[in-house]
Amino acid sequence: MTGTNLKRLHVITWGCQMNVYDSGRMADVLAPLGYGPAAEPDGADMVILNTCHIRDKAAEKVFSELGRLRRLKEATGGRMILAVAGCVAQAEGAEILARAPYVDIVLGPQTYHRLPEMVARASRAGGAVIETDFPPEDKFDHLPESATPQGVTAFLTIQEGCDKFCSFCVVPYTRGAETSRPVAAVLREARHLVAQGAREITLLGQNVNAWHGEAPDGSHWGLGRLLREMAEIPGLLRLRYATSHPREMTDELVAAHRDIPALMPFLHLPIQSGADRILAAMNRKHTADDYRRIIGRLRDARPDLALSSDFIVGHPGETEADFDATMALVRDIGFAQAYSFKYSPRPGTPAAGADVQVAEADKDRRLQALQALLRNQQARFGAGCVGLDLPVLFTGPGRHPGQIAGRSLFLQPVHVIGMPSLIGHETTVRIVASHPNSLAGTLIQEKQIA
Ligand code: 5AD
Ligand code: SF4
Repeated sequence: MTGTNLKRLHVITWGCQMNVYDSGRMADVLAPLGYGPAAEPDGADMVILNTCHIRDKAAEKVFSELGRLRRLKEATGGRMILAVAGCVAQAEGAEILARAPYVDIVLGPQTYHRLPEMVARASRAGGAVIETDFPPEDKFDHLPESATPQGVTAFLTIQEGCDKFCSFCVVPYTRGAETSRPVAAVLREARHLVAQGAREITLLGQNVNAWHGEAPDGSHWGLGRLLREMAEIPGLLRLRYATSHPREMTDELVAAHRDIPALMPFLHLPIQSGADRILAAMNRKHTADDYRRIIGRLRDARPDLALSSDFIVGHPGETEADFDATMALVRDIGFAQAYSFKYSPRPGTPAAGADVQVAEADKDRRLQALQALLRNQQARFGAGCVGLDLPVLFTGPGRHPGQIAGRSLFLQPVHVIGMPSLIGHETTVRIVASHPNSLAGTLIQEKQIA
């Protein structure tokens, strides 16, 4: 795949880590057709826009980006193949083709393995190709092993889709029902990633802790058991998983946090609201106290566990008292970091049709108050790391000459002055300063730990 055969593929990725992972797999599946990476869309032979539908004005954003790409396509004399993938493609495929007829391919997240065939059809037919059905076969069975190494920290999708149907969320509609990848396939890909240089793997899924699978001996495994097996892979130093639902936090998974040193003491566990009324309206099927109890069990298992979460302010029906309950929960738990969003109505979801929408000004005010509190907690957590000696896994060069960058156990970026030869290794670092989104440290032992 060198020389004149090389076609240039540029992938634009919006949204979650699962989209980042998917973009990599789309590049992998196109590599045998001669497509290699292009840093810019200008002059590329193919551009894929991998979209996200979770919040904000997703469709408008897609159409405005497509307008820009249209001009780039025209500059290639129309030769550039333009594909729209991801959740907006899944939800709005027909509208995309109606409003942007210069798009060649529209494909939903479950059909990425069919991309080579779609490219062939698009080149032949001259008409647009749309594939947004949920095919009977599993795309993962048909995707090649990743050709391009992800680096020191890698993602591995083990679960997709969601059956939880939270009132506000499009995922069950765009990603379909919950499915789990089989144990053998997950372990094979994990070993492949480690052979390519990965030292940390984050297992991904919309509901990753709902993952379950049949083991080689016929027994049934949950995520806790899978993590135990993953931890045995030689060369793999660190494990993480995201994103989880509180209802799937089994005893086995909690025990994994106690028993597996490689499982990092940082967990992203969305709660969305601290008010039971709103949790019920959201169809979360747990209360704020259920969440507090789960956190208690996790902290008993792993006392240094740092927590992250997702919050939505202004879900339909949210009162000032409900919002106060969210603030109280945040104060009770104490988060190392968290994401918070204004509720945004998603077409087709139950909450979008509710007649008790919260005024925009109230949403703004609540978001500001919540984010100020969360920022404060994050700063306090960072400041608490100063003076500690923490293992850091170095992932690449830093921003300034002589610097290298890595990650703490708690996923904070850490910068030190150090040799590039430490990249790919875990070393103890004395943390000397905390910044809003990162830590600075000094190497206290040149000898690498692993
Ligand atoms: N409005 C605002 N935030 C949302 N999220 C999901 N759907 C919506 C919506 N309609 C947030 C949730 C979820 C995260 C990925 O995005 O907090 O956990
Ligand atoms: Fe969306 Fe709820 Fe499923 Fe998470 S659990 S993906 S918020 S429906």
